[in-house]
Amino acid sequence: MTLIIFDILFSFTFFSVLGWVIEVVYRSTRDGRFVNPGLLKGPYLILYGTAALILMGSISLIHGYNIFIKILYYFLITTGLELISGLNAQHFFNVRLWDYSDQRFQFKGHICLKFSVYWILLAFAFEYLLLPSYQSLINRLPSSAIVGSSTLLLALMIVDFAMAVRRKRYQGRVGGAGEMEEAFLKIAGPVLECPAVARLSQYNHHNGKTRLDHVKEVAWVSFIWGKRFSLDCRAIVRGALLHDLFFYDWLREGPRLHGFRHHNIALENARQVIALRPKEIDIIKKHMWPLTLIPPRYPESFIVCIVDTFCSLTDYMRARGKDKKI
Ligand SMILES: [Fe+2]
Ligand SMILES: [Fe+2]
Repeated sequence: MTLIIFDILFSFTFFSVLGWVIEVVYRSTRDGRFVNPGLLKGPYLILYGTAALILMGSISLIHGYNIFIKILYYFLITTGLELISGLNAQHFFNVRLWDYSDQRFQFKGHICLKFSVYWILLAFAFEYLLLPSYQSLINRLPSSAIVGSSTLLLALMIVDFAMAVRRKRYQGRVGGAGEMEEAFLKIAGPVLECPAVARLSQYNHHNGKTRLDHVKEVAWVSFIWGKRFSLDCRAIVRGALLHDLFFYDWLREGPRLHGFRHHNIALENARQVIALRPKEIDIIKKHMWPLTLIPPRYPESFIVCIVDTFCSLTDYMRARGKDKKI
């Protein structure tokens, strides 16, 4: 029983490698340069190994049938597998392993009549030429060679596949972050271009961090949370960027009881910079809650209020850590 399993594994890996050789020769000759086909880095194509196993397992089923039944059967097996593989690679890995869009009688670039005919011919060649030679080869090979080589190649394929999945996930994360930044900058850009907002870079806000850095940080983190909860991110970003729009060093100057008053000062300044909507007004006005007593009216205001407190506390803790080291 164990040997049968290893025979199957050996056949799978053997034909995966052979398929890779066929594809490399075909594609490299066509393109005039070395082309490594497939999704994985190693010298194997799982599609060929799978097709070979299915053919080996089912050839006896269609033995004795006329040629037309065999053609139809080989067409369904090979072209069906090609279609499933192409769709899966595109869906799960966002990769087009081949593209028949320029061919006649094609379906979404995944399959086409010309290559379906090639696959049928290859399936017949497999049945009548390749399979007998392969069977005599496997009968002569020692069991240790079958077990050793199939185990090694299968382990390599699994690691290769896991790395391909990991690469895809990483690319997905990078792409996602890029899209988020783009969406953020689309909203934040016009506000950041206002001279009054740019002026915030001249003021120290929390021990070494400028006020512009602070409002940008609060806006970005609030934006991420806003996206997560499907909130009004435009209001969040604009309100957060303007929530500390005042022009004095609050540690050394400015009105008494700064903590209780600066939200109103920021709101007055913000009104002169851009036209504010009710949510943006509430975000600026309530960002110091509970010092403002009246709680925020919108979830967007709560988010900015919490993020602002968190960012300020983090800055404070960092500054204390630095002081202790000194
Ligand atoms: Fe503030
Ligand atoms: Fe703040």
